[in-house]
Amino acid sequence: MKYNKNTFFYLEDGKIVACHSLSQDYYELDLEHFKRLIEKSKDLPSQASKEQIDQDLSSGGLLTDNLDDQLLAWEGDPISFYCHQGTRIYAQNSPILNEDSFCEEFIKVSSAVREIPPKSIPDYVQQIKLPDPDLTPFRKSSFYDVIQKRKTSRNFDRVSLNLKELSSLLYLCFGPIHGTVWEDFEKHHIPSLGLRRSSPSATGLQGCDAYLVILNASDIEQGIYYYASDAHTLYQLKNRFDDESLVYALGDQFWAKNLSAGLFIVNDMKRTWIKDKKARGYLATYLEAGHLSQTILLAATALGLHTWITGSFRDDVVDKMLQLKNSPNFASFFIGLGFGNNGSIPEKFIETIASKTR
Ligand SMILES: Cc1cc2nc3c(=O)[nH]c(=O)nc-3n(C[C@H](O)[C@H](O)[C@H](O)COP(=O)(O)O)c2cc1C
Repeated sequence: MKYNKNTFFYLEDGKIVACHSLSQDYYELDLEHFKRLIEKSKDLPSQASKEQIDQDLSSGGLLTDNLDDQLLAWEGDPISFYCHQGTRIYAQNSPILNEDSFCEEFIKVSSAVREIPPKSIPDYVQQIKLPDPDLTPFRKSSFYDVIQKRKTSRNFDRVSLNLKELSSLLYLCFGPIHGTVWEDFEKHHIPSLGLRRSSPSATGLQGCDAYLVILNASDIEQGIYYYASDAHTLYQLKNRFDDESLVYALGDQFWAKNLSAGLFIVNDMKRTWIKDKKARGYLATYLEAGHLSQTILLAATALGLHTWITGSFRDDVVDKMLQLKNSPNFASFFIGLGFGNNGSIPEKFIETIASKTR
């Protein structure tokens, strides 16, 4: 029997815990069993004296003869491998449900959610009621034109945005554009705590919030603002970004300079955990943010803005600036908004390449 590489280990409360990432079963191991796994990881031949231990380990799948259970051809690093394995749903963990039992299960899961955690409004210095959104540009835009025009821009000029445009963008992407009642559920008198917006939501509970970064705007000061979509209001945080601190937070992506504004999409894990505490639920928060980001990019394009998206930042720096430190909520995307020559290659790259080929 071979050591099953689909297993990972951690320590908790003085115990060694093994998790079989495919079955998602957890086992507490004593030192003897753990040491045996270390031996088996070296692929040593079996020893009669260790048969009982081997049997224990194989009953949990930590040792296996089944080579199908062994590593797939994964080229990523070990952490990415366990992320991948942990987020898979296997048939062995997913019993077949007939239509009746599926309905029962659906009702059970839905009725188990009695209230959703309130949105976490960060500590703020002031509250700003946004002007009413103007949805005309979205109504007038051709879907094809907007899709066709959306582009990643990496050259921005210092041009001001105004609050009215941001109000329209926030409302379209994060606001209750279908009203505050989920019509299908209401019609059939089915209780629902969900909310609908312009993008799909993995849990139906809208786990993503907007943190608006103002850099250059005519009628609102530079700062970071939490958007409360129900009241269409901004809450100004105590921190603010300027070009330098934003570029640092975004991992030195210097083309973020001269943006007019930006939006961090922040995933609220409490909303996910109420329905799903598994790794696949965690993965879905990123997928949800990805759907939302596309809606934001298209909406901003319809408003005539140039856009840039990144999912790569110094997470701890962003957490600190958005006052998310020690909270399970985290930023998954930043979308830069502004005006420029709409080129996707930073001017500095072009100059550097040209100077080397001269
Ligand atoms: C999930 C995701 C992450 C991205 N991360 C970055 C990034 O870190 N930095 C960056 O400059 N562009 C980033 N981009 C933008 C892509 O480079 C860009 O979409 C791609 O080059 C295609 O160009 P287009 O958007 O103009 O079609 C990201 C895009 C996506 C969807």
